[in-house]
Amino acid sequence: MNVLLIGSGGREHAMAAKLAQSPLLDTLFCAPGNAGIANVAKCVTLDIADHGAVIQFCDDNDISLVVVGPEAPLVAGIVDALDAANIAAFGPSAAAAQLEGSKGFTKDLCAEFNIPTAAYQRFNNAPKAKRYAREMGAPIVIKADGLAAGKGVVVATSIEEALDAIDDCFEGAFGDAGFEVVIEAFLEGEEASLFAFCDGQTALLMGTAQDHKQVGEGDTGPNTGGMGAFSPAAILDQEMIDEVMGNIIVPTLAGMHSRGTPFRGILFAGLMMTKDGPQLIEYNVRYGDPETQVILPRLKSDLLELMIASVESSLLEVEAEWSDETALAVVLASKGYPGAYEKGTEIHDLEKAEAANIEIFHAGTAMKDGKLTAIGGRVLNFTAMGSSVTEAQTAAYDAIEKIDWPNGFCRSDIGWRAVAREKE
Ligand code: AMP
Ligand code: GLY
Repeated sequence: MNVLLIGSGGREHAMAAKLAQSPLLDTLFCAPGNAGIANVAKCVTLDIADHGAVIQFCDDNDISLVVVGPEAPLVAGIVDALDAANIAAFGPSAAAAQLEGSKGFTKDLCAEFNIPTAAYQRFNNAPKAKRYAREMGAPIVIKADGLAAGKGVVVATSIEEALDAIDDCFEGAFGDAGFEVVIEAFLEGEEASLFAFCDGQTALLMGTAQDHKQVGEGDTGPNTGGMGAFSPAAILDQEMIDEVMGNIIVPTLAGMHSRGTPFRGILFAGLMMTKDGPQLIEYNVRYGDPETQVILPRLKSDLLELMIASVESSLLEVEAEWSDETALAVVLASKGYPGAYEKGTEIHDLEKAEAANIEIFHAGTAMKDGKLTAIGGRVLNFTAMGSSVTEAQTAAYDAIEKIDWPNGFCRSDIGWRAVAREKE
């Protein structure tokens, strides 16, 4: 069968690499893709926001399945449009994608179906929001309701910071996304993520991971899309996984089903491991980036078969098999990221880093005049496999040493908490 993958990041390169291994695959297309994806798929230019153009492309190229990487097209209803044209798509409908598209929607669902999450209230004006923030006291968390590219959350350590964050939202710092605000209690603990493929009724565990969102060593400085990750999540043992599946994922699926908006696709639960057990911080309705770059290299099963089972509501009949090894990914970004950075710098010697236990996933790369060029903030992901987080970490950094990209930087401590625990 022919498959169209939508996206251009490290996540999509990891998905493309795995899909390309499937015996069920004839041709893999990717829109728009990047220089790394071009090695495993046919990259095409296509206006993803133009659903008619995507449908036309699928008809012209005999596409049997569309796989959507990022959240924006899902929230915009690309799966609904494809469905209406009888083209199978892996991902949720716009109604189900509200689990990521509106934080208030998800909090209300949690309240209705008893899913453990921080206490909260929703607001549509600043004075009421400020009164509530003052009553609750700091630390407190202020969230723009809608999609804000990961920037709409402020964990305020003082009331002044909370009040400023409320003003920012209602004054339009996040556009429409901020005209409704969720204020919630601060949860204390270590974070982890759990991923499940869903077919409307059944959920299949598709990996756990921990990531590093902040740009600076020791998890300091501004937030980014993610500077590195490792899988499995060291702090999620089997008992915890069962608890998350039973108390969070399954009731979410049941709730969405009972509301007439069943969830299909990838449910990505951001979790806080508190002293009272795992609590849901937020949902995303797609794989994580860079979490995918550490989860899929550990998958031994056919990814395409699992995606088809999600679409055809037969997840009960399939299993996912995993490697026992740990995978750790370090993100290389252009100097300046997540602020302003230079575009068009050349990357050399990537082939010198190649090894059996290393996979290099591209994000913001393009070939220009035959030269590998950085065109984005996050540019490359070095994923290493090892028997422990420590071993994978050492292998990833050894590989990065071998390439030549003066305008790139990475964090030097990805996995530090887990590495410290392994030393104990
Ligand atoms: P979100 O976009 O909702 O995942 O939030 C971004 C980050 O803010 C999370 O990964 C957490 O580090 C932090 N965060 C969000 N909600 C809370 C909360 N209730 N308590 C503590 N930290 C939070
Ligand atoms: N790494 C977090 C995300 O993909 O949203």
